[in-house]
Amino acid sequence: MKIFLDTANLQEIKEAAATGLIDGVTTNPSLVAKESRSFHEILKEVCTLVDGSVSAEVIATDFEGMMKEAQPLAAIHKNITIKVPLTPDGLRACKALAKEGKKVNVTLCFSASQALLAAKAGATFISPFVGRLDDISENGMNLIKDIVHIYKNYGFKTEVLAASIRHPMHVVEAALAGAHVSTMPYKVFQMLFKHPLTDKGLEQFLADAKKAKN
Ligand code: E4P
Repeated sequence: MKIFLDTANLQEIKEAAATGLIDGVTTNPSLVAKESRSFHEILKEVCTLVDGSVSAEVIATDFEGMMKEAQPLAAIHKNITIKVPLTPDGLRACKALAKEGKKVNVTLCFSASQALLAAKAGATFISPFVGRLDDISENGMNLIKDIVHIYKNYGFKTEVLAASIRHPMHVVEAALAGAHVSTMPYKVFQMLFKHPLTDKGLEQFLADAKKAKN
């Protein structure tokens, strides 16, 4: 499973990229609004830090507006993936952009029927929001399972990108369900490394190493 970082913070991306384990980055307007630099500046730098898909979301809601916004974004770097919302206009733009050879991430997916339409529109990635479904007492991970199943049934090439990930078990369950990608905040990525027995074991080995004869 690919690991994407869900942030527009360059320091976080730099630190995570240094591990060599990051396959891509997703941004959204809310994440970009937290940063002081412009959207285009951020995207340019992210593309130098990570050699993989970098999602850039359009803010237009009509087909023509999305197509217009997508062009300069896609021109920034070959790895820019245009992120469009799961609306009729968004899927129309997805189809047109895919036809132009651009990579598209269809975002704000909350149902299997929406995911089916995104695959038919030629999306590179579909982003079902696991955490936001859990927040309203629905089972976000069941949606991931359903989409993986449906895509397998028909051989759709669209990759399932588990989004709105809140904790390490979301990542593990998405991997078990067969999601192609999980995108997560830096904090969750850091938590993936952690285990108290690793810390305890290492402490013991280091203490014993000091006692060992040279
Ligand atoms: C995905 O691409 C979105 O940017 C993100 O995962 C949304 O996460 P949130 O529900 O924590 O805002």
